[in-house]
This record gives sequence, C-alpha cells and structure tokens, in this order.
Amino acid sequence: MKDIVILGAGNVGTHLGKAFHEAGMPVVQVYNRTLGPANSLAELLGCACTDNLEDLTGKASLYVITVTDDAIGEVAARFPFRDRLLVHTSGTTNMHVLKSGSAQYGVFYPLQTFSKEIPVDFRKVPLCLEASDTSCRDLLEDIAGKLTGRVIWIDSEKRRFIHVAAVFACNFVNHMYHLAEEILREHDLPFDLLQPLIEETARKAMTDNPGNVQTGPARRNNLEVIRAHLGMLSAMPAFKELYGQISDSIRKKYASD
Ligand SMILES: NC(=O)c1ccc[n+]([C@@H]2O[C@H](COP(=O)([O-])OP(=O)(O)OC[C@H]3O[C@@H](n4cnc5c(N)ncnc54)[C@H](OP(=O)(O)O)[C@@H]3O)[C@@H](O)[C@H]2O)c1
Repeated sequence: MKDIVILGAGNVGTHLGKAFHEAGMPVVQVYNRTLGPANSLAELLGCACTDNLEDLTGKASLYVITVTDDAIGEVAARFPFRDRLLVHTSGTTNMHVLKSGSAQYGVFYPLQTFSKEIPVDFRKVPLCLEASDTSCRDLLEDIAGKLTGRVIWIDSEKRRFIHVAAVFACNFVNHMYHLAEEILREHDLPFDLLQPLIEETARKAMTDNPGNVQTGPARRNNLEVIRAHLGMLSAMPAFKELYGQISDSIRKKYASD
C-alpha cells in the first residue's frame, strides 16, 4: 500500500488525487494554501486536509507538490520531512528546486491538459519522471506504473522542451479555437460547426507529419484570400495581427516549395 499526500488542490492535484485513489493508492491528506479547495478535494477522496504545512502527516510514501510553478520552491522550502520522497508536477521547473525540502526528490510530470471538472483517462497519460537517486527512482517507477501504461524517464533539461512544445500543441491551439469561437459568435454562428474540422486536423497531424498536411491560404500562398481575410478583421486588430503573423510563419516554412 502506497499512501500519498497531495500538496495543491488545483487542476492537477484534483486529477492526480482521483487517479491515485482509483489505482488503489490512498491519498491520506490534501494540503492547500487556502482551505476551501483542500476541503473539496479531501471530501472527494475521503481523506484529511490542512492549510498548514506543519500539520502534514509524516506517514506517507510520496508527497506530490501540484502548486503553481512560482510557488513550488516556497512550498518545498517549508516541507517538514527531510527523509520523505517529494516530487513536483511541473514541465519547466527544475527538479533540484526540491533539494531545499527533502534529500529524496523527483518529478512526476503528467503530459496532458487538466481542467478540474473535465474527466481524463489517466491510464493514457504519459508520465515524465525524474529522480534524485535510485531508491526514489524505483519507488516512482512502481507508483507511476500503477497509474498509466506510459512512463518516460527524462531529465529536467529535456522536459522543459517537451513543455514548450506542449504549449504550442495544446495551449496555443486552444487559444486559436477560442478566437475562432469568438469570430463565429460575432456572426451568430455556432462553434460546433468546426468540430469535424478540429477532429480531422488532430487526426491528420498524428497519422502523418504535421508539416506534410498543412493546408489553407498561407500554405497555398494565396495572397488575395489572405488580404481579404485581413480586411475582414479590420475591426478586430488583435485578431488581424495574429492572422498576419501566423500566415507569415506558414508562408516562410513553405517558401522554397
Ligand atoms: N493544468 C495542466 O494542464 C497541467 C498539466 C501538467 C502539469 N501542470 C503543472 O502542475 C502544476 C499545477 O498546475 P494546475 O493547473 O493544477 O494549477 P492550478 O489549478 O492553477 O492550481 C494552482 C495551485 O497552486 C496553489 N498556489 C498558488 N500560489 C501559491 C502559493 N504562493 N503558495 C502555495 N500554493 C499556491 C493554489 O492554491 P489556492 O487554491 O490557495 O490558490 C492551487 O492549489 C504546475 O506546476 C503546472 O505547470 C499543469
């Protein structure tokens, strides 16, 4: 039995907490800076909660910091047990920031997008792991293997490039969906019109190299259409600027074709 403590009851803390619970690894305590979210997650998981790091139980096998990146160092520095395995879940924050908290530390980075209320099948989530020594490595490998079929060992230097790529592939793409939704809404059109297009774009990118399946006016270097679209966006200057920049980026990529 591997007892877990979650430090941070946000999106990742909530999903990881549920995944540990479902995999038969009890979450015995949730810490959060403010008590409200700690309480909600603890109720869901049937465990204790606290907003005070000094009240953490010392009996767990693994302590998972899931707070925002800027606060990981601060929470680690106040972690009260030098001999307990302490990990964070960040793509970009270096593993060694945890050294101030414990002599045993590592990274448990789930490569997925998590929103508290939206279910995720954790068994399909790649878990990028890093460990300070071999005993931490063995424990993390064991725990991660109970959560998912995809465990990847990767150091902090490489992991940050996974994260920056994920920002392009997920966060920026989602921002584009958001802008598309606004354009459609402005003209009384529903966003779900785009659903087949969104699904096919993701499917094609995964079945071929994304560079091979680019389409659209910029890929075809169709300047008349680009100019028309820029004109249509005159009343939305931020959209117009982004349209121009991304079109230029696509055109440059295929300039020699
Ligand atoms: N969301 C994702 O899709 C995703 C995916 C992979 C990895 N990650 C990583 O997972 C970590 C958490 O992300 P998230 O999306 O779960 O964040 P989140 O939902 O925004 O939650 C942030 C958490 O950080 C706490 N916090 C903020 N400032 C703090 C401070 N100064 N001291 C102590 N706690 C503080 C918040 O506490 P309060 O409730 O008191 O504000 C809350 O528990 C980050 O390192 C992120 O890079 C996120």
